[in-house]
Amino acid sequence: MDKDIQTALNEQIRHEFTAAYLYLGMMAWFETRSLPGFGHWMRLQAQEELAHAMKLVDFVLDRGGKVELGDVAAPGIDFESPHAVMKAALEHERRVTGLINRVYALASAKNDYPAQVLMQWFVAEQVEEEKNAGEIADQLAFAGDSASAILVLDGRLAARQPGEGDGGEG
Ligand code: FEO
Repeated sequence: MDKDIQTALNEQIRHEFTAAYLYLGMMAWFETRSLPGFGHWMRLQAQEELAHAMKLVDFVLDRGGKVELGDVAAPGIDFESPHAVMKAALEHERRVTGLINRVYALASAKNDYPAQVLMQWFVAEQVEEEKNAGEIADQLAFAGDSASAILVLDGRLAARQPGEGDGGEG
């Protein structure tokens, strides 16, 4: 496969593992503070990021490319509030969207149609990712310092199922 695309995909694999690591840290942040619903949401989020990474790994392998794994840095997880965590998650997803768009642009410039199809999946996924993190961040902004509102939200997020972005209806 095209070397530039292979490099970009390997870099994106690293970003997805970095995201998984970040969400793992956020999961621990919430679990430590007895907010298991948020923790559950973050746990599933970390698993989704690993699935994203594997999707890229499998694509590189299927195309006869070389998987080259880079370093995954420890995430900063020193947050002041649940709202600060979710705002950081949203900002992270916005950064990832920019990275995904760049890989898609490269696949387009190189006329690599299979890579374009793959990246279209990621482009659509990022719309969901930003929406889900953004909704929870907004709800925490509404909740402000209200412990009862945060606990209600924690209960709702506990209902998130694998493959879903939130805690179901509501
Ligand atoms: Fe891999 Fe959160 O997008």
